[in-house]
Amino acid sequence: MRSETPINSPRHVAIIMDGNGRWANARGLPRTAGHRAGVERVREAVRTAAEAGIDYLTLFAFSSENWNRPQQEVSDLMGLLRFFIRRDLAELHRENVCIKVIGCRQTIQPDIRALLNEAEDRTRGNTGITLVIAFNYGARDELVRAVRKIAEAVRDGDMDIAAIDEAAIAARIDTAGIPDPDLVIRTSGEQRLSNFLLWQAAYSEFVFMPCLWPDFDRAAFLDALAEYGRRDRRYGAVSAPDLAVGS
Ligand code: IPE
Ligand code: IPE
Ligand code: MG
Repeated sequence: MRSETPINSPRHVAIIMDGNGRWANARGLPRTAGHRAGVERVREAVRTAAEAGIDYLTLFAFSSENWNRPQQEVSDLMGLLRFFIRRDLAELHRENVCIKVIGCRQTIQPDIRALLNEAEDRTRGNTGITLVIAFNYGARDELVRAVRKIAEAVRDGDMDIAAIDEAAIAARIDTAGIPDPDLVIRTSGEQRLSNFLLWQAAYSEFVFMPCLWPDFDRAAFLDALAEYGRRDRRYGAVSAPDLAVGS
């Protein structure tokens, strides 16, 4: 008997949470109000992902290029991250969420670094969904840092050049140990990666949604998952039904 089209669920979903500024502009509010509204959507997204059986949810919170925004906006965004961790860490911990942070930890304020370290340390043993927060993250910066680590290992005689392969690179980027995202969602209608997970998204499915991040509710998330379920991932090969036809 032929079964219904299977709804494949992704193991790892990564989201480019975009459109806070436009959400605020449309309401005649300052951009910060959009960022605040955006933070309110995060808990719901984590909960929806956990309920949908997703193992890893990565959220792009602040890019290495976002420092180029006006100083006031940057400091508002830093304040919101502090607020989010202080307010929501205990609850995320109670919900068995394991938090990991990717991005450059060196060039952020020491108190934020301490908060991010605390979030990771406190939730390290949790066995529920892993929430990966991409903060001060840029994929090119991540690759540069990985290349430096490899060059140092070769210089110090700890690594042969012949040992530099895909696994060696994957083990030295920030997402070491985390599977590649199956699905990358971007809100706000923009259709670009903006320096997000360039290595890891090599074979990800992309879903671009017109809705602005502060409007990204449970239903929007489920729509994106349903769209993923209709995709046929081939990884450069031939899909199973086509093989059957050819045989
Ligand atoms: C996403 O919303 C939040 C961050 C990049 C930190 P934006 O602030 O980019 O909102 P738009 O794209 O200007 O609408
Ligand atoms: C990407 O959004 C970064 C985050 C969502 C944190 P941007 O709004 O910074 O990207 P561009 O500038 O539109 O490419
Ligand atoms: Mg934007």
